[in-house]
Amino acid sequence: MEKIRIVGGRPLEGTVRISGAKNASLPELCAALLTDQQLTLGNVPEVRDIRTMGRVLAALGAEVEFRVGGEVELRAGSLTSVEAPYELVKTMRASVLVLGPLVAREGRARVSLPGGCAIGARPIDLHLMALEKMGATIAVEHGYVEARAERLRGAEISFDTVTVTGTENVMMAACLADGQTVLRNAACEPEVEDLATLLGAMGARIEGAGTSTLRVEGVERLAGASHRVIPDRIETGTYVAACAIAGGEIEIRHCQPNHLRAVIDKLRETGVRIEEGPDNLRVRAPRVLRPANVTTQPYPGFPTDMQAQYMALMTQAEGASTMTETIFENRFMHVAELARMGASVRENGRTAIVTGPTPLSGAQVMATDLRASASLVLAGLAASGETVVDRIYHLDRGYYRIDEKLRGLGADIERLA
Ligand code: EPU
Repeated sequence: MEKIRIVGGRPLEGTVRISGAKNASLPELCAALLTDQQLTLGNVPEVRDIRTMGRVLAALGAEVEFRVGGEVELRAGSLTSVEAPYELVKTMRASVLVLGPLVAREGRARVSLPGGCAIGARPIDLHLMALEKMGATIAVEHGYVEARAERLRGAEISFDTVTVTGTENVMMAACLADGQTVLRNAACEPEVEDLATLLGAMGARIEGAGTSTLRVEGVERLAGASHRVIPDRIETGTYVAACAIAGGEIEIRHCQPNHLRAVIDKLRETGVRIEEGPDNLRVRAPRVLRPANVTTQPYPGFPTDMQAQYMALMTQAEGASTMTETIFENRFMHVAELARMGASVRENGRTAIVTGPTPLSGAQVMATDLRASASLVLAGLAASGETVVDRIYHLDRGYYRIDEKLRGLGADIERLA
């Protein structure tokens, strides 16, 4: 199993280029199921989850071609299957994003229930509730969700909890439904808005993208389109945190600072110097890092996908800070690993209290999920001596060549086979 070895203590300098957003690309690849025409997506990050989604779509009969430079061509002329099998869904929960498009286009879908994962139980009841309201009959049997509908019809749907993929799934389904669908308490994440932009280019009629109320007027059919995926805001935030913890000064290019407001504001509060350009950031690490508390929230709040990286950073702040995780019930798996490197973190229910600064020392640590792995890499950059992060397939799911990008910034980091 591949590992990453980091020798800490080197400040970062230079320029890093941000890849396209994984969590925008995943639903956008699934949008190809809504039309028999060609969809061309640009700036798709070549990470493992994207390849997995390519396999899911190919299993349904779609033609999927990955070209160099992040371009993906998809055509779902006619589908040969409506089933997303357990073998694929278990490796990536986002496979559930085929559910809405399949029911809308084929009138039928069979998708394995994703089950629990490292960061929590993560049910899909809200996806199912919404599709039922739109007229689908849903049965859960043998670990699969089976949904059927002659033609979905527009409905008024109010989500109890903000759900990103739930909003995306239902928004895609609503594009081909009969009549208007209104989604309330919808996710406002930039990835949802970017999906709406793509669907609009395909001929969908969507209002309110980027707000908590979405109105979708169903159409008979959607056409092909070309679309460039937005930059990955979590990858961007991870490099800001990397510079802050390792020291030094870097330039982050091809990013979208507007999508990172809560993270930029919080890091400035801790003393990190951040200058914003239209699509770039210049980051300078402070001499003294101040503690600041965060509570994860749906967008535009502080993202849960940055909580682990932020915690690594706070181990180096002068004082105590709290991280409160409100989105997922089990997203502190990195705490025990950070502690093995010398961090002082106390967990109290959904809150972690970090007392800094504590010198970190390199250790062998284990990645448990994507963002937890990133936090261990960041801790490794600040630690004395050698850190070896095991199970880095988690990192490869969502970060495009993080080892190469950090090496380009001067970090002493290498991949061990
Ligand atoms: N929830 C329900 N019922 C549902 C759906 C969600 O109770 O039917 C709960 C979840 O259990 C969770 C909360 O609602 O407690 C929010 O979950 P959400 O559905 O928003 O999460 P998701 O759509 O499964 C996406 C991202 C995650 C990111 C979250 C929150 C993708 C493919 N995944 O997941 O990204 O953490 O939104 O922003 O977009 C990552 O990239 O590392 C990652 C985990």
